[in-house]
Formats: sequence, structure tokens, C-alpha cells
Amino acid sequence: MGETTLIRPFLKWPGGKYRLLPVLQEFLPPRNCLVEPFAGAGALFINSMHREVIVNDINPDLINLFRLLQTQGDDFIIDAKKLFVHKNNHKQSYYRLRERFNSIQTPWERALLFLYLNRHGYNGLCRYNAKGIYNVPFGDYVKPYFPLDELHYFKQRAKQVTFHCQDFVDFLTPFLKYPKRKMQQITFYCDPPYAPLSATANFTGYAQQHFSLNHQQQLADLAHALAKKGATVLISNHNTPFTREIYRHAICTLLEVRRSISCKTKARNKVSELIACFSAS
Ligand SMILES: C[S@@+](CC[C@H](N)C(=O)[O-])C[C@H]1O[C@@H](n2cnc3c(N)ncnc32)[C@H](O)[C@@H]1O
Repeated sequence: MGETTLIRPFLKWPGGKYRLLPVLQEFLPPRNCLVEPFAGAGALFINSMHREVIVNDINPDLINLFRLLQTQGDDFIIDAKKLFVHKNNHKQSYYRLRERFNSIQTPWERALLFLYLNRHGYNGLCRYNAKGIYNVPFGDYVKPYFPLDELHYFKQRAKQVTFHCQDFVDFLTPFLKYPKRKMQQITFYCDPPYAPLSATANFTGYAQQHFSLNHQQQLADLAHALAKKGATVLISNHNTPFTREIYRHAICTLLEVRRSISCKTKARNKVSELIACFSAS
């Protein structure tokens, strides 16, 4: 697939891999099935050609939104557009709608507001406090973009996708019981929250849970175990002494990537990332 045909995800997402797609796609072996345990906005799977796609993320708001687009996409898009109006692009309206989001459980309205907040909130962040309250400040954009084409594209692609909402360990463990023949048809692409570059510099606020070094180690162990069963497992992460150590059973390729999350938007530096490839051989 050429670079010009790439589709942008309809959500802004911290750590989103849209810009890295041409590189990532070169690492994907020809397999029937793509499995993503950390879907985020789904840059890779929406641009993949796999016949079967299995997608997971621990964030229930994200998976609820994906599932509604999959099952009632047209009605959802019509309702979502109604929130993208001038009167809702003010600080007061934003905080009123954010409060509404935090007080409701109805899947439909929660998903509509989740999309509104994603496009009107600060820098595409997705952050909850320890009580599960969404607390991203107002973004103050001139005219937030309504991703109409991207939503329609996602709705179509979602027809071939199975969505899960679990912790990655619970999601990945059952694959270890698959027969080798089936495993050889699967590529796992794992894009976990970044391991810290330093002790203070990481962002892991996508869902309520934090992603510790222990989680990073567990993921590397699972990747190694899945590869031994015949699958190809790719993990993208920062390039640090810690990640190079936990991915020692993989072949690591280093990449220079522009950071998409920074306190100061003008101060986006190049950081070194890697792709670890675990395979049976
Ligand atoms: C770097 S983002 C993935 C970005 C994605 N590749 C994209 O292009 O948009 C990491 C994702 O991992 C999810 N996540 C965090 N902890 C998790 C866990 N324990 N199990 C499964 N998913 C988790 C977050 O909700 C977030 O969406």
C-alpha cells in the first residue's frame, strides 16, 4: 500500500502510529490475521489488508465507541456531527459537556461525548484521574475538525474486526493455546504505552491503570512465548537500555521518530524508538 493511500484514524491519540505506518508496514509478514492488544486509535489495523483482525484496548470508552461505529455507524455519525458546532467550541460548553460525560453511563451518549472531547480537548490527550474522571482541559482550537470521512472509513473496516476490552495479559494468554498451524498465520503488533525515557518523563494516562516496568517485562515475556509457538510478534517502544534488555530475544531495529506528545508543542524533539521483532526462528 503506498503512502498516499493511508487513512488517518478518526481520533487523535497519544502515541498514535499514523506517521510511522510506512515503516511499520514493511515489518508485517504476509499473514491472514492481525492481532493488536493496544489498539489506541487503530492507525495500523485500519490501514491493513488482513482478512481477520482482532483488536483490544483496556480503555472501555474507546472500545465502546468502536463497537457502536461497527454496529450503528451511520446513526452514530449523524448524532456525533451535531456536537461539532460553534456554540460547543467554548470553554464553558466544553467543561459542561465534560461534566456530562463524567456523569453518564449510557453507551451511546458516552461515545458521542468521548469523540467530542477528543477533538475539542487539549492536544488529543486521553486522561482520567484515579477515580476514573476524565480531566483533559479545553483545547481552544479555532475550528475542531469533524472527521466525517475517517469515521465512515472506520465503520466499513470495523466489519472485519473483533473488538475486545481487556488487560493485555488476559487478552494475549489464550493465544498460547492455539495450534502452531494457526499461530503461523498471526502477526501480533503491540504498541504499549511507552517505557520511560527517564524516571520522570513518561505519559501513561490513557486509562485509569498505570503501565509499569513490570507490565513492559510481562509483555516482552508473552511476546517471546507467542513467537515460540509460531507467531510473529512486533513491539514498538522507546529505545532505552531497559527496552533493549527486555527485548533481547528479538531482533531490534532502531527508528528516529518525532514525538507527538510534549508539554510544549513547539519543542517536539526527535527521540529514538525501536521495533522489536520476535519470531520462531
Ligand atoms: C501507544 S497507545 C497505542 C496507539 C496506537 N497504536 C495508535 O496508532 O493509535 C497505547 C494503548 O494501550 C492501551 N493500554 C494501556 N494499558 C493497557 C493494558 N494494560 N492492556 C491493554 N491496553 C492498554 C491504552 O489505552 C492506549 O490506547
